[in-house]
Amino acid sequence: MHRLKLFIPGPTEVAQEVLEAMARPPIGHRTPEAKELILTVSGQVREMLRTRQTVLLSTSSATGLMEAAIRNLVRRKVLCTSCGAFGKRWYEIALANGKEAELVHFPEGKPVDPEVIDRKLAQGGFEAVTFVHNETSTGVISPLEAMAEVVRHHPDVLLLVDAVTSMGAVPIAFDELGLDVCLASVQKALALPPGFAICVVSDRALERAAKVDARGYYFDFLEMARRAAEGQTPITPSLPHLFGLRVQLQRILTEGMEARYQRHLRMARLVQDWARQRLALFAEESSLSPTVTAVDTMGRFPPRELIQYARQHGFLVASGYGPLKDRTFRIAHMGELQEADLKELLQCLESFLSSRS
Ligand SMILES: Cc1ncc(COP(=O)(O)O)c(C=O)c1O
Repeated sequence: MHRLKLFIPGPTEVAQEVLEAMARPPIGHRTPEAKELILTVSGQVREMLRTRQTVLLSTSSATGLMEAAIRNLVRRKVLCTSCGAFGKRWYEIALANGKEAELVHFPEGKPVDPEVIDRKLAQGGFEAVTFVHNETSTGVISPLEAMAEVVRHHPDVLLLVDAVTSMGAVPIAFDELGLDVCLASVQKALALPPGFAICVVSDRALERAAKVDARGYYFDFLEMARRAAEGQTPITPSLPHLFGLRVQLQRILTEGMEARYQRHLRMARLVQDWARQRLALFAEESSLSPTVTAVDTMGRFPPRELIQYARQHGFLVASGYGPLKDRTFRIAHMGELQEADLKELLQCLESFLSSRS
């Protein structure tokens, strides 16, 4: 069967070279070769995120690391910011782990407002604040720099960032911004198959973790960091992902981070212009995501009909997330995709719209 080209917000298309690297026979995960592999990948992540701090490589999806961040860094109370499904996920994780959590939710389609968060943090009692950089469910990017600035005014509060659909596509300068956790799974803008996640953890976050009990076993940041310093992971890692990451991160760095950010913006603009002309954008104009666009169908047709049409023509487009299913569909423009791919997709969607008018 002909394979569908992926325009969903993960998993995304993977380069052949990366697939081939992942198909290599396994090596012993405690060998010098594995150590070199882990140190190389960690160094590449540091370069990409402009940091000198600790990189943790996790054989899990991003949600595992979201839970880890809560368990390791929150003793009692966390503030969870949200403007969509993934912001709420962090709140649910905190509650599921027996933490006190407060949710500040902004309307879908709008970003998190750091000024509101500043006032909330000023009330005191929060050890950390969670923040989703790019809300995949609504196609909204929230202002990371402004958020980091706000959190800097509250010296005891850690800033935990979900960069699942922004890492590798949108600038993130971890050290300059003073972030404490920045995590992502690899099946999004980093363009590897799913099953692995990476995060950077600050020194001060690790100091905090040392004061937290019941950090868990699989995701104990202190143990992960101790082993990372030795070029190891506490458990048997997914070696195919490490092989793939070494090749893919090199491809990313060779493309050049700035060139990569610009390519994502150009792809986003193509889709946004089309959506603006032909239908409508769900997210507000000032916070349109560079990696995923939620298109509002304005009730003109059920989104599933467009998705079905695209599928018949070889393209996989995403439905709206949760309650937005009947009103929106989503086009991802990240990772390996190029402008030419988006043009091809939009031509197909255009013919769908013509067939209905
Ligand atoms: C913004 C965001 N956060 C978290 C997740 C969860 O990631 P994973 O499925 O890798 O656990 C996703 C998945 O789409 C996401 O888009």
